[in-house]
Amino acid sequence: MKVAIGSDHAGYKIKEDIKEVMDELNIQYEDVGCHCEDSVDYPDFAVPVAEKVANGEVDRGILICGTGIGMSITANKVDGVRCALVHDLFSAKVTRLHNDSNVLAMGERIIGPGLAKEIAKVWLETEFEGGRHQRRVNKMMEVEA
Ligand code: RB5
Repeated sequence: MKVAIGSDHAGYKIKEDIKEVMDELNIQYEDVGCHCEDSVDYPDFAVPVAEKVANGEVDRGILICGTGIGMSITANKVDGVRCALVHDLFSAKVTRLHNDSNVLAMGERIIGPGLAKEIAKVWLETEFEGGRHQRRVNKMMEVEA
């Protein structure tokens, strides 16, 4: 699996933490930035991550900003992206099982690094369940057509 990861200044620290998780899991990733805590605009990082997922350059994307909200709204505007804003472990698991979410968004001003790392791990390691959920995902994606 290959992952694209991005953050704004308000999500920079957790982005770095999640890169450590992916190193431990031997997951290949591309960091699109930002690369320090200087103020930047979250769409400048959400769009490249979302586009890499949508065009198949990577399998999944992870986005972090202060709340995760700006990142998730922006990512979901790119066709082919199913971005889930997640701040608990149950949602991390079920959004993979049921929604086949291909981008994960989190907010560094909402949760700490310990929980964020666990969420990323569960989300990365959980496979889509398919079956009746595939039909529902198909209906969701038909909205884009
Ligand atoms: C930046 O101040 C903040 O607005 C951003 O990180 C994010 O929370 C937006 O949704």
